[in-house]
Amino acid sequence: MMMEFRFLVLCITVLLQSVPERARASPDELLVITAATEETDGFKRFMRTARQFNYTVKVLGLGEEWRGGDVAKTVGGGQKVRWLKKEMQKHKDKSNTVVMFVDSYDVILAGGPEEVLMKFSGLNHRVMFSAEGFCWPDQRLAPKYPPVHTGKRYLNSGGFIGFAPEISLIVQQWKHRDHDDDQLFYTRIYLDKEQRSKFNMTLDHQSQIFQNLNGAIEEVVLKFEKSRVRARNVAYDSLPVVIHGNGPTKLQLNYLGNYVPTAWTYESGCGICDDDLLYLNDVPDEEMPKVLVALFIQQRTPFIEEFLHRLTTMNYPHTRLRLFIHNNVVYHEQHVQRFWNQHSSLFPDARIVGPEENLQQDQARTMAVEMCRTDPSCGYYFSMDADVALINPDTLRILIEENKSIIAPMLSRHGKLWSNFWGALSPDGFYSRSEDYIDIVQGKRVGVWNVPYITQVYLIRGDVLRTQLSHVSLYQQDGEDQDMVFCRVVRDQGVLMFLSNRDEFGRLIATKNYNTSRLHPDMWQIFDNPVDWKEKYIHENYSQIFEEGVSVVEQPCPDVYWFPVFSIEMCDTLIETVEDFGQWSGGKHKDERLTGGYENVPTVDIHMNQIGFEKEWLKILKEFIAPVTEKLYPGYYPKAKAIMNFVVRYRPDEQPALRPHHDSSTFTINIALNSKGKDYEGGGCRFLRYDCRIEAPRKGWSLMHPGRLTHFHEGLPTTRGTRYIMVSFVDP
Ligand SMILES: *[C@@H]1O[C@H](CO)[C@@H](O)[C@H](O)[C@H]1NC(C)=O
Ligand SMILES: *[C@@H]1O[C@H](CO)[C@@H](O)[C@H](O)[C@H]1NC(C)=O
Ligand SMILES: *[C@@H]1O[C@H](CO)[C@@H](O)[C@H](O)[C@H]1NC(C)=O
Ligand SMILES: *[C@@H]1O[C@H](CO)[C@@H](O)[C@H](O)[C@H]1NC(C)=O
Ligand SMILES: *[C@@H]1O[C@H](CO)[C@@H](O)[C@H](O)[C@H]1NC(C)=O
Repeated sequence: MMMEFRFLVLCITVLLQSVPERARASPDELLVITAATEETDGFKRFMRTARQFNYTVKVLGLGEEWRGGDVAKTVGGGQKVRWLKKEMQKHKDKSNTVVMFVDSYDVILAGGPEEVLMKFSGLNHRVMFSAEGFCWPDQRLAPKYPPVHTGKRYLNSGGFIGFAPEISLIVQQWKHRDHDDDQLFYTRIYLDKEQRSKFNMTLDHQSQIFQNLNGAIEEVVLKFEKSRVRARNVAYDSLPVVIHGNGPTKLQLNYLGNYVPTAWTYESGCGICDDDLLYLNDVPDEEMPKVLVALFIQQRTPFIEEFLHRLTTMNYPHTRLRLFIHNNVVYHEQHVQRFWNQHSSLFPDARIVGPEENLQQDQARTMAVEMCRTDPSCGYYFSMDADVALINPDTLRILIEENKSIIAPMLSRHGKLWSNFWGALSPDGFYSRSEDYIDIVQGKRVGVWNVPYITQVYLIRGDVLRTQLSHVSLYQQDGEDQDMVFCRVVRDQGVLMFLSNRDEFGRLIATKNYNTSRLHPDMWQIFDNPVDWKEKYIHENYSQIFEEGVSVVEQPCPDVYWFPVFSIEMCDTLIETVEDFGQWSGGKHKDERLTGGYENVPTVDIHMNQIGFEKEWLKILKEFIAPVTEKLYPGYYPKAKAIMNFVVRYRPDEQPALRPHHDSSTFTINIALNSKGKDYEGGGCRFLRYDCRIEAPRKGWSLMHPGRLTHFHEGLPTTRGTRYIMVSFVDP
């Protein structure tokens, strides 16, 4: 069936070219006409695809006030016909000119003018309208349509094509008002048999040129060709040129528009990413756009101090930032306060709203966005929630340079598919996974993506707030999820939301298992937020252990290794945690914490299981100690099991030292938690067999040595202050 049809098209085309009279009437010029009152994001997208194929485009109505009614909700669009009627006066005598009229806000072009003309010639009519499966706006007209065998039966006026004289004669009949329905007008002409035959009109039943997506979403798939992407209609096996997201199919069009025709291809990736960039490199600091940075702390969130601190390391002139913080969490007041005490001078004119002001989330967000909207000098509004870790200090610059109305940096939870965007919506407006979602999250497809939903962090252009979004309330909460409301309001205004995964920006913080009844709850976050945990608690030079060549690892005594493992923060946090817990063992042989109840070489200590940190400690051994052991004692693969994990306290007036002993371990780690000279005097460790001492342990550095047989050792007396070490008997 399909083959026959194509064959027919081919024959007609050949025929056309071989008959001289026909050749005279054959088209030699294609003029695309569209109507748009504003240069919306959708309009710009349309024009970009038109430019790409070198179409000649005439835009009607730019800058005029739209009086054609709200076509999304009701009938209307007559204004477009009035404009076209006037425009066609110029072209009515051009017998070889073909005019194609298309909408623009919700249209993209997938092929070039030669293809359109070739297909149009092949279809052998003077005028052709696009077709769809719904009879709109007057369903009573449905029976009057000629029946069709295969294909869509009803006229859609969002796209049509024809020779200039015929199109002109059709639109000259327009005598209605601007808010009357254009589609009804064309439908009546088409259904009038006399006119239909006079103008030699037909419909594009099988989407040869025009694809209306409404009612046909399932029929249209992406077809990746070598260096470009098309939309393919699988019902009619056609490659339509004009893709129209009519009715409720705007999001599907947005999805297709992320690829068609060269927005993203397998061969060259993002084909449009560098088109409209705005460059800030040469802009002097004092001329950089002003940005309102709004932070929202809505729930207890791990690593909040790091979150606040990143504001100070943003690569953006602070004089051009204005800060707004809404903290709705009493627990975090201490953190905001501490941050503010240190850095308030960096952010003049800041506004901090605390929990005592009792603002709802939507009220706080409205307050912040109004600060930018009502200030004509506010170039951008940058909104960020506390569970966002923007590691890339250039994020704000990069997002501004992308030059979009609204753009979010792509972030996901470490190693998870949980991210700050949705690739598609379900029919009821909730999450739905788009075909490309995983590839975008995992960075297998890189680009700037038009998506229906973003959350947690995004940048809005100030001028967009003051124009397209000026009369809507972006944040309101009538029981509905406020991010869903925000995105819907934005979409309804025809503003496109983008998401970039062109750069690494950072990650999302998991907030679920955050137990703030602990003194330093972040220390427990090794499972939920492993990357943030590592950045905070592991020594900055830890990774040098594994570097080739000059290693950071030292060997102060035979088979005793010494390497950096904990940050200063971890050392201090651990000491404060055990001191806060306070139940130090008495350094006696009798120890009820042990099976058997007897400790041969007792110390004054607190075990990790006493402070509820056992599981986390074993994870530390596995993640950070086992790899070092494998490197230093090749061929030994630690199980990283340990029962004895404890902080020891040495004091002159308590227990200052420990007599020589073996450990019940395959190997032992012994991490210094504070500093000699500063916190204590004396201390250190001596290995008797080699009479070798380590007298100046470094804070955060670990000793690692075999437990039994060779490494009989003692703890040297602490003579002043308090010395703390963290000890673990690994693989007992
Ligand atoms: C469009 O025109 C430019 C400049 O004339 C040309 O380089 C390009 O190849 C044309 N593109 C297409 C798709 O014809
Ligand atoms: C349109 O014109 C073509 C060529 O002249 C003719 O074959 C066809 O029957 C006409 N169609 C209609 C509906 O008049
Ligand atoms: C930024 O975007 C605006 C609106 O889309 C566009 O008019 C302008 O040309 C772009 N700027 C640059 C430098 O491309
Ligand atoms: C939270 O921490 C406290 C100790 O501070 C502990 O008693 C409690 O069990 C923890 N809660 C959960 C859910 O882990
Ligand atoms: C890490 O190593 C560098 C030299 O490689 C040194 O300057 C720096 O102080 C070290 N960091 C810490 C926390 O010791």
